Amino acid sequence: MYREVKDGKLFFDGVDMTELSKKYGTPLYVYSENDIISRFEDLKKNFVEKYERVRVAYAAKAFFPLAMAKLVDECGMCVDVVSGGELYTAIKAGFPAEKIEFNGNNKSIKELEMAVDYEIGRIIVDSLQELASIEKICKEKGKVAKILFRVTPGVKSDSHDYIVTGKKDSKFGIPLDDEVIMPQIKAAIDSEYIDFYGIHFHVGSQLFDNGSHLQATDIILALVEKIKNNFGYDVKELNVGGGFGVTYVDEHRQPYTYFLDPIMEKIENYYTEKGVKRPNVVIEPGRSIIAEAGLTLYTIGSIKQIPGIRKYVSVDGGMTDNIRPALYEAVYTGVITNKADQPKTETVRICGKCCESGDILIRDIDIAEPEAGDTFAIFSTGAYGYTMASNYNKNTIPGVVFVKDGQDRVVVKAQTYDDMIANEIL
Ligand code: LLP
Repeated sequence: MYREVKDGKLFFDGVDMTELSKKYGTPLYVYSENDIISRFEDLKKNFVEKYERVRVAYAAKAFFPLAMAKLVDECGMCVDVVSGGELYTAIKAGFPAEKIEFNGNNKSIKELEMAVDYEIGRIIVDSLQELASIEKICKEKGKVAKILFRVTPGVKSDSHDYIVTGKKDSKFGIPLDDEVIMPQIKAAIDSEYIDFYGIHFHVGSQLFDNGSHLQATDIILALVEKIKNNFGYDVKELNVGGGFGVTYVDEHRQPYTYFLDPIMEKIENYYTEKGVKRPNVVIEPGRSIIAEAGLTLYTIGSIKQIPGIRKYVSVDGGMTDNIRPALYEAVYTGVITNKADQPKTETVRICGKCCESGDILIRDIDIAEPEAGDTFAIFSTGAYGYTMASNYNKNTIPGVVFVKDGQDRVVVKAQTYDDMIANEIL
């Protein structure tokens, strides 16, 4: 945890958040580099160095400006991208192409061509149609693509319905019915333009129970067995996705080992019994790397007391920089950074400045007496905040600052009004 209170002020990775808000203006996304690095170190120690032939592919969708791409690479990790844009960002940041893995349920031909041209590490194929497109592209270009099939294991995990992805009724992945999956696997094994690596699943996001990962692992091991029996083929890689939950307010984040050790045990036991070398194992954490490493700074503006009801405290951002409360009823907490040690005497609602009644960032929170001009920090906004930001109401997208050991550096400049209208034609 790189947040601390010194002389009544909130500091993050050694930097005074009130001063930072004045230096760059608000809203502002702030990330502790040490926090990000420590998560990767944790995974290195408890996964990468503990087991052989395993990899971490950070899920770029959680947060991925160029500086993050560079940091992920410096920390020795791979990356999971889901669009031409994320792939382009990785390449522009100098990310080694062979360490990039490409997910997505509807990759365009152009995106697949990019993937083949750059010779990226893996394409996670989501349908037979996609397999045929990759084959055609590779044939034209004389290349071979390394692929996994994403399957829907049909397990139900416990999270918000919008972020549950492993159930059978899903737009993601290939259902496990034999008549659907087996011909695809056969086609991949037989193709001279495809190097078939294995199977991928992702059961959902913000999970605290390892049950659905373990159930899904059993299901893909059964599939692996069928592939061996039907085609005599040993799968070379299993990708068990991400989804490891984090602490926003009072959830208890589980250590990575809580998920990964039993998954690995299951896989290793299965292969030991068969007397066969186990395949590579890959994970794709996003949120658990970056959520708590980020916070958002706002300036308090209008304060309204509705008699007998509540006090509304408005900040200068809102659903445009953090859509999660409006979209998933996500819950956050925060503090007035310049009054961080003052008694929390008021229960208020923190709302944004967009023209939507649903533009509420925190429904109920106890804070010190708020005044216009105070800086308000909302914690754990590092995942899916910046990446889901919009220009609704023509609000500009805030900049991003990295802090580390008392130093700060801008890694994304705040959008200006001119940036915002740059592609508009009069
Ligand atoms: N791998 C795949 C194939 C995924 O679909 C996802 C997330 C991840 C990895 C990373 O999952 P994580 O470790 O971050 O839970 N916008 C939503 C989250 C959507 C997640 C979609 N897939 C939110 O703000 O909660």
